[in-house]
Amino acid sequence: RFATPNERPLAGKKVVITAGPTRERIDPVRYVSNFSSGKMGYAMAEAAASLGATTILVSGPVGLDKPAGVTVIDVESAADMYAAVRAHYKDASIVIKSAAVADYRPKEIHTQKMKKKDGDSVIELERTTDILKSLGEMKTEQILVGFAAETEHAVDYGRGKLESKNLDYIIVNDVTDPDAGFGKDTNVVTLLSRKGMHQPFEAMPKKELAKVLLETIIKEESDRLH
Ligand code: CTP
Ligand code: CA
Repeated sequence: RFATPNERPLAGKKVVITAGPTRERIDPVRYVSNFSSGKMGYAMAEAAASLGATTILVSGPVGLDKPAGVTVIDVESAADMYAAVRAHYKDASIVIKSAAVADYRPKEIHTQKMKKKDGDSVIELERTTDILKSLGEMKTEQILVGFAAETEHAVDYGRGKLESKNLDYIIVNDVTDPDAGFGKDTNVVTLLSRKGMHQPFEAMPKKELAKVLLETIIKEESDRLH
């Protein structure tokens, strides 16, 4: 538990969280996406609100109930998510990027449903904006927190992302762990900080983990957050 008598340490602070996958349209009936359920991001939003924050949740398409006391902005694509996050970035105290943003999108969005032809077909893809990297470049006072989902070398790759995206923290999960990953109700993560923190957490429900992670960050940042 948070060790101070203040039960609402984020009162008066704005926390912006992204969650879920993005969808990148191919044509009016098809898209490119991933298996993100949004559960971890929604848990982070619920935890931020319970700690008193004015909480903005920028959510890709997920089938989850909106957490109480949270302002939800629904988005579809990486471009939509980027615009929504930027609109709330300047006065945010903490920004947490839990979303599994699609790295690529179709180069062209067909206005009519694509018809099949004989033989194979190729959809050309181009990179989406790396939202978190851009936020890192624009960072002023915000505490910037990323996630990294890895299948190997999780901590090393995670630390690389922490550095290259100018983050303050990264929450790394090895999605091959049977208690971790997309769609699960539990997660196993390691919290890394710019200042060298390396804290593994044991498997626990995402809702519980979200609160512990936020409390750990709040404690570590008490001078910047008060
Ligand atoms: N991220 C983002 N915008 C993107 C891609 C990723 O904001 N276009 C963010 C994610 O929300 C996450 C962090 O970057 O907080 C790491 O995402 P991840 O997919 O693990 O890393 P990538 O940098 O995309 O590298 P790769 O997928 O090649 O491992
Ligand atoms: Ca990626």
